[in-house]
Amino acid sequence: MKKSDRIKVGIIGLGRAGWGMHAGELTRFKDMFEITALCDIELKRAATLNKEQKLSARTCRDYREILTAPEVELVAIACRSPEHTDYALEALKAGKYVVLDKPIALNYADGKKLLAADRRYPGRLFCRQNRRFEPEFNHVLEIIDSGVLGKICMIRHSVFSYQRRNDWQTIRRCGGGQLNNWGPHLIDHAVQLAGAPIKSVNGILRKVTAVGDAEDFFKILLTARNGRIIDVEFSGGAAIPSNVYEVHGDRGSLILPPGPDAEFHLKYLDPEYPLKAIRADAGTPPPPGHCSWAPYRNPEELHWIEKHFPVKPHNDDNIGTIYRHVYNAIRKGIPYRVKTAEAVEVVHITELVRQQNPAFLQPHVIHTGLK
Ligand SMILES: NC(=O)c1ccc[n+]([C@@H]2O[C@H](COP(=O)([O-])OP(=O)(O)OC[C@H]3O[C@@H](n4cnc5c(N)ncnc54)[C@H](O)[C@@H]3O)[C@@H](O)[C@H]2O)c1
Repeated sequence: MKKSDRIKVGIIGLGRAGWGMHAGELTRFKDMFEITALCDIELKRAATLNKEQKLSARTCRDYREILTAPEVELVAIACRSPEHTDYALEALKAGKYVVLDKPIALNYADGKKLLAADRRYPGRLFCRQNRRFEPEFNHVLEIIDSGVLGKICMIRHSVFSYQRRNDWQTIRRCGGGQLNNWGPHLIDHAVQLAGAPIKSVNGILRKVTAVGDAEDFFKILLTARNGRIIDVEFSGGAAIPSNVYEVHGDRGSLILPPGPDAEFHLKYLDPEYPLKAIRADAGTPPPPGHCSWAPYRNPEELHWIEKHFPVKPHNDDNIGTIYRHVYNAIRKGIPYRVKTAEAVEVVHITELVRQQNPAFLQPHVIHTGLK
């Protein structure tokens, strides 16, 4: 790859995401990207990162400098959530490619503005739903698509931990709350796992252990047009985690317990033994002890196959490989996997859930940018 093919990137916001994730991921794909500008309202962060990573990037406090910098082709937006939509719209207007971290918008109206901009500047906006590239999610999707579980009825997806968080992500006027923070990831998974348009959305928000005034628990029940029910939960107040995935179909089940080395447990009906055609019987079953099968069971023998195996989807992606896809889209024209319309649908569902829980509606947010 020629050095001149590298995409020159300016990062806005150098915190846990901008410094800890974007900068690290971009450096990992050194042959594809070059960090040429670093912006943070705390200028010292930009200078320190520049020095630590031996970069020779422009440093600035004002994001507008990044938008007009000729050496910046792609702007990565990783400052706090309330600035995301406006900065992305401005960057697109300035002719830049944009990687926009989640939440891409705090409300559906802003989401629709991004969708309109995406149509106006096609192929320029990359919504950073990086957990779309998570191995666990991709492997679950592969198993569902293989058909081994039959017709899927119910999917549960849970992320549980116990955290007494007290950062800005716990404060509603800062755009915090786990519906904005983990919601974009889990709702995006849910919509993809649904495999059909979403028909209904029902959500519950609660504050359990975090301080601040924003939710640290959500439970969302989605139903899809194909009949699937998807139950997504996040809790920051659960000391014992639940299974991360449970998928139940009419021919079997799949479970992924929590933990970094967890293995899938798959149990499904052996396709070598087709199920007999049986009919519902309205008669009275034989008295106890007078039939060969358990009275509340069905009379046939079921042949199950059970397997335990590690998480290993066919692709080699993980949540840190998203920039490789951004490069492939910009330089090679390979369609980016996360469509803006899908990311905006996530924002729409988020807003519906918030409206169903008025105690957690977001007041006017405070902005941290320069005036
Ligand atoms: N995709 C992911 O997996 C992921 C993970 C973590 C955070 N995030 C998202 O990244 C965003 C930042 O989260 P964080 O945890 O890094 O926050 P943070 O508070 O750790 O960092 C934010 C940084 O942005 C700077 N900043 C704030 N306003 C700015 C502005 N107007 N211009 C320039 N710099 C500004 C701050 O000084 C700080 O350095 C959030 O929206 C969060 O949802 C995404």
